[in-house]
Amino acid sequence: MRVTHLLPALLAAIPAVSASRGNLGLALGNKNADQSCKATSDYEADFDALKGVTTLVRTYSASDCNTAQNIVPAAKAKGFKVVLGVWPDYDQSFDQDFNALKQYVPGNEDVVTAITVGSEVLYRKGLTAQKLLSRIQQVQQQFPTVTVGTVDSWNKFADGTADPIIQGGVTYFLANGFAYWQDQEIGNASATYFADMSQAKRHIEQIAGANANKIRFGNGETGWPTDGGSDYGAAKAGTKNAEKFYQSGVCGMLAWGIDVFYFEAFDESWKPDSTGDNGQAMDEKHWGLFTADRQPKFNMTCPN
Ligand SMILES: *[C@@H]1O[C@H](CO)[C@@H](O)[C@H](O)[C@H]1NC(C)=O
Ligand SMILES: *[C@@H]1O[C@H](CO)[C@@H](O)[C@H](O)[C@H]1NC(C)=O
Repeated sequence: MRVTHLLPALLAAIPAVSASRGNLGLALGNKNADQSCKATSDYEADFDALKGVTTLVRTYSASDCNTAQNIVPAAKAKGFKVVLGVWPDYDQSFDQDFNALKQYVPGNEDVVTAITVGSEVLYRKGLTAQKLLSRIQQVQQQFPTVTVGTVDSWNKFADGTADPIIQGGVTYFLANGFAYWQDQEIGNASATYFADMSQAKRHIEQIAGANANKIRFGNGETGWPTDGGSDYGAAKAGTKNAEKFYQSGVCGMLAWGIDVFYFEAFDESWKPDSTGDNGQAMDEKHWGLFTADRQPKFNMTCPN
């Protein structure tokens, strides 16, 4: 592992995790630029554009836009792997996603590498940890051979909110961390990202106790808006800054042995604004590594 691009003081503070590099994946939306649902052919075009960067993507709902139905054949055709998402926040969204999984996962376990139940649902206070745990367990029981876990904001893991899920025996956790939404200038963004991830990871392993060696921890989302995006306090949008964050933060996290899902693969020009830690709503249309018409914005090769 070559770590010359990492901040040395930062690395010294972080315990060695793993001899092998983490895997890079990308968050992938299920709508085209005109807001229509992606068909299998659209996912195939996505995968053709992405394959030089990675062959792993994660999605957010199995039933919305028929995501599971449409993406699984595309992944098969193009040699991609998919982490499928379940939106557990409401009985109806959970039931619809669970039914879609029952239909499209069996026989496709070679493509569906994992299922995540929930995306920042604890952060939004959409479900209690107990309720989320029972939904994760329901999915795990249905698919005993598939990795099933959850994704939430790093601070919900670090502050104990997710403890009942860890104590309940779940072993797959993806923590989201955005130095941008934490109002950090680019010069401190990678340090903030590393601090976030280490705090979440350390707390999860502490609570897991004897189970800590079974935990699979990764970063579920990180990223930085490019030209055209909004500033967020000291965090300035811009393609140069996004490239800087990618090269130092993301490449560094991978070198540390942590899996990273970058948010996101393509710009989603239809998206409504999103709200950060200080309550301000900001543009979320310019977060792609690629433009909406699938052109790369900067050099995505990590030093190795
Ligand atoms: C820089 O990041 C570190 C790590 O998260 C944090 O402790 C520190 O407060 C940040 N500095 C500023 C000026 O926000
Ligand atoms: C992209 O970045 C990598 C790693 O820093 C570097 O080795 C490579 O030369 C760069 N490629 C281009 C075209 O600049």
